[in-house]
Amino acid sequence: MLDVKNLSVSFATNDGTVNAVNGVSFSLERGQTLGIVGESGSGKSQLAFAILGLLAQNGRATGSAKFDGTELIGASPGTLNQIRSNHIAMVFQDPMTSLNPYMRVADQMAEGLIHHKGLSKARAMAECVRMLDAVKIPDAKGRIRLYPHEFSGGMRQRVMIAMSLLCKPDLLIADEPTTALDVTVQAQIMHLLRDLQRDFGMATILITHDLGVIAGFCREVIVLYGGQVMEQAPVEPFFASPTHPYSRGLLHALPRVDQEGAELNSIPGSPPNMTRAQKGCPFQPRCDFAKEDCKARLSPLTEFVPGRKHACNRSIEELA
Ligand SMILES: Nc1ncnc2c1ncn2[C@@H]1O[C@H](COP(=O)(O)OP(=O)(O)O)[C@@H](O)[C@H]1O
Ligand SMILES: [Mg+2]
Repeated sequence: MLDVKNLSVSFATNDGTVNAVNGVSFSLERGQTLGIVGESGSGKSQLAFAILGLLAQNGRATGSAKFDGTELIGASPGTLNQIRSNHIAMVFQDPMTSLNPYMRVADQMAEGLIHHKGLSKARAMAECVRMLDAVKIPDAKGRIRLYPHEFSGGMRQRVMIAMSLLCKPDLLIADEPTTALDVTVQAQIMHLLRDLQRDFGMATILITHDLGVIAGFCREVIVLYGGQVMEQAPVEPFFASPTHPYSRGLLHALPRVDQEGAELNSIPGSPPNMTRAQKGCPFQPRCDFAKEDCKARLSPLTEFVPGRKHACNRSIEELA
């Protein structure tokens, strides 16, 4: 359904070119779940924006992203609008920035249904209430008349999710949907997303900096670092034995419920400067396994066991 090939995103800035995403490829089938994980700044959001034609003015995407055969990279605004209003929906981190504070939830939800899908006001309202029910907003019928600020953060995110479902998307891209919420609410929203994904059967790309939310949600995971895919694998073997040193670092940095009070590990060092031309492996300065060659070149993404790929100069034996 979605076929992404060699997708790159760069930005022109006063300090030079920022290479935010470098040659990412993946494909996603109907109803499938994919997690994209990486530290802040690794290119996760720009990858999603490129697919939806939502890059900032100074951004440029190259490569290919085909949705059911339709090329999205460089597509006309008309095509992209069509895709965004009928096939691919996106939920963002901060629901307050994507909701209009001056419009009642009812009006912003119904707008598209009335103007783009030609539904009557009554039918549009009924559909909106149905979706608010689906995301488990209590008293949806009454609360649909409220303004966004009259909802709590978690409830606002539910509203956003309900809005994204109105077009019955084939694909939902959720970009850090719970990052702005507190921990208990995060868990509730992830639970909800999982139920909705099952009930509605839409393919979902979950973007997160938190490996912890991937495990219970996604079938496949892509680890991004410095705009490059470091590892790509089905979730079970990935969590059982991540091979790439960066994936291991991420996993090691996860808080563990069985070690309460234990110190949180983080990966030493900081993410790469994206304006420098990337030669070699972007993770090399922080990698315990790095050798001299890692500064000069990075092995392309390679299938080292069936279904599992990673980009690392070191052999599996060296990484053992
Ligand atoms: N409009 C822009 N101009 C220049 N650089 C940008 C722009 N938007 C994003 N970037 C850069 O692209 C890189 C990737 O950003 P992003 O995809 O948003 O990261 P994240 O993984 O946290 O979602 C970052 O280094 C960010 O600073
Ligand atoms: Mg982001």
